[in-house]
Amino acid sequence: MAWSPSSWREFPIKQQPTYPDLDKLAEVEKELSAMPPLVFAAEARALRRSLAEVAEGKGFLLQGGDCAESFAEFSANNIRDTFKVLLQMAVIMTYAGRKPVVKVGRLAGQFAKPRSADTETRDGVELPSYRGDNVNDLEFTAAARVPDPERMLKAYHQSTATLNLVRAFASGGLADLNRVSKWNTGFVTMNPLREQYESIAHEVQQALSFMDVLGINVENTPSLRETTLYTSHEALLLNYEEAMTRQDHLTGKWYDTSGHMLWIGERTRELDGAHVEFFRGLHNPIGMKVGPKADPDNLLRVIEKLDPNNDPGRLTLIVRMGAGLLPERLPGLVKPILAAGRKVVWSCDPMHGNTETAHNNYKTRNFDNIVQEIKEFFEVMEAEGSHAGGIHLEMTGQNVTECTGGAYKVSETELEKRYRTQCDPRLNADQVLELAFSVAELMRET
Ligand code: PEP
Ligand code: CO
Repeated sequence: MAWSPSSWREFPIKQQPTYPDLDKLAEVEKELSAMPPLVFAAEARALRRSLAEVAEGKGFLLQGGDCAESFAEFSANNIRDTFKVLLQMAVIMTYAGRKPVVKVGRLAGQFAKPRSADTETRDGVELPSYRGDNVNDLEFTAAARVPDPERMLKAYHQSTATLNLVRAFASGGLADLNRVSKWNTGFVTMNPLREQYESIAHEVQQALSFMDVLGINVENTPSLRETTLYTSHEALLLNYEEAMTRQDHLTGKWYDTSGHMLWIGERTRELDGAHVEFFRGLHNPIGMKVGPKADPDNLLRVIEKLDPNNDPGRLTLIVRMGAGLLPERLPGLVKPILAAGRKVVWSCDPMHGNTETAHNNYKTRNFDNIVQEIKEFFEVMEAEGSHAGGIHLEMTGQNVTECTGGAYKVSETELEKRYRTQCDPRLNADQVLELAFSVAELMRET
């Protein structure tokens, strides 16, 4: 069947808002279609090539950022801190894990959320669920929850500003390895974490000095002072994604230019659904979430549809099962997918299978469970004769208290101190750096 950026409209679709004003929706879609792309097709191809290396075990994917970006939390400092902590993690993982790390942010477009129910009820009042800032507002009032297409324009403009700053940071000096390794990690004040970080930073400094003696330095070697942070988000709101989809003049192929990499969520990956239809025609690298209930035969059929040429780098499976459950469920999926000769990237999202409700009703995740699921993931992948290709995290560079545990032992009663997420609980800067050390160790062992 012929594909077009709008062919998804003929298929059953889930997790979409019901817009009251369809004329306004069409107007916004038209306006968005005329906007410049956020990313360039050649960049998406470069990411695909890097992910092809990851698929072969020659690299590691680090993907992370907010569960949901928001209009309210938009600030240069937020973007800078997420950028910094992703880079610090990448230094730890590259140096201690001995593999190049492909960095992909959950940012500059992560504004649409799937929900477990269409409505939310509080004190007997039932309203439409919050679906992310490019759909409606989090505030619990009837007016705030009405889906407003204009929000897509605001999300687009916030994404361009975010990406602009990210690009400036990546090439304008902030990513200079001399600096990254010297960054005063204000938050890492606790031993042994600080010692561990400082010892890696020291070793990186020594390696840089040695290279300098050989004539390799930041002046003549761009890779020592520049980096690439790619963007990604869940391409859930297809009205927005279709409007951002453009035909590349060089190759004639279609790219969703709203981000370098897009993924399909756990709730929208039906074989005959609108999302799989939309994704199959894109040439971006794509991801797909895979939960504990996935059926192997069905999954294989979806994989064949999304990646008919079995092209390494095209498809990343983002496994999210939960600590304890993963060793039970993952082998049953990995075996048939490997037996079919599939060359996907296997990545682990240790967040979405480990969500729990604390006694004070905060949605949280425990650090130990998160690390445990990653360990289990590495073990299963190795036992099956493959390898762990990456991790996918909900995280921030801010000092929030949303996930419990970690070296600072955030307790359930402390969650209320700085609980700022719009949606799911994120790891804070300390927690992700601690996690990066554990992952680096696992990378080195396998
Ligand atoms: C998410 O990544 O925020 C998300 C909703 O994940 P999943 O589709 O795996 O539930
Ligand atoms: Co989430």
